[in-house]
Amino acid sequence: MTAEVRPLAATDLDLLAGLHRDCFPHDPWNRRALAEVLAMPGAGGWLIAEAGESALGFLLVRRAADEAEILSFGVAPAHRREGLGGRLLETALAALAAQGAARLFLEVAIDNAAARRLYERLGFLQVGRRAGYLSAPDGPRDALVLARRLGP
Ligand SMILES: CC(C)(COP(=O)(O)OP(=O)(O)OC[C@H]1O[C@@H](n2cnc3c(N)ncnc32)[C@H](O)[C@@H]1OP(=O)(O)O)[C@@H](O)C(=O)NCCC(=O)NCCS
Repeated sequence: MTAEVRPLAATDLDLLAGLHRDCFPHDPWNRRALAEVLAMPGAGGWLIAEAGESALGFLLVRRAADEAEILSFGVAPAHRREGLGGRLLETALAALAAQGAARLFLEVAIDNAAARRLYERLGFLQVGRRAGYLSAPDGPRDALVLARRLGP
């Protein structure tokens, strides 16, 4: 079955909460937390889902003027390495550029090899490092701050 990327809708909170729990079992954002995140000015996101609403991945962003940041991003464990994360990220890059964002920022744990490889492939460069900034089951991790120019 073909998975399609589509903008998040207000009715997606339950789907999104289930997916977030599967992707970040040590730090899941529940329905209420996700509703608060999505209520922030400039916040939005996309789901990649199959017909019948089996959600496979999500990406949440926030845009303020010409800068944007990825707030959270994940693909269901059983569907990783199928190109879905790349499709979500490319959708976000194109949409944010069309909305006038010039740079997209994100934070990634230093030992998150899969995500770092994906971001590198899509042209993100390191612009900072925050010591002990991200939580992991066995203790804090340094976060790398990455950024990518958008648009022409
Ligand atoms: C990071 C994540 C979203 C990637 O999603 P995905 O759908 O598996 O990614 P894709 O299949 O589109 O991979 C695209 C490229 O990223 C890189 N990549 C992805 N997973 C990788 C892995 N496990 N090891 C090495 N490289 C990997 C590869 O270059 C890959 O291209 P290739 O398969 O042609 O070699 C997914 O691993 C995930 O949900 N991880 C847990 C949550 C998380 O870490 N989110 C990001 C927080 S910053």
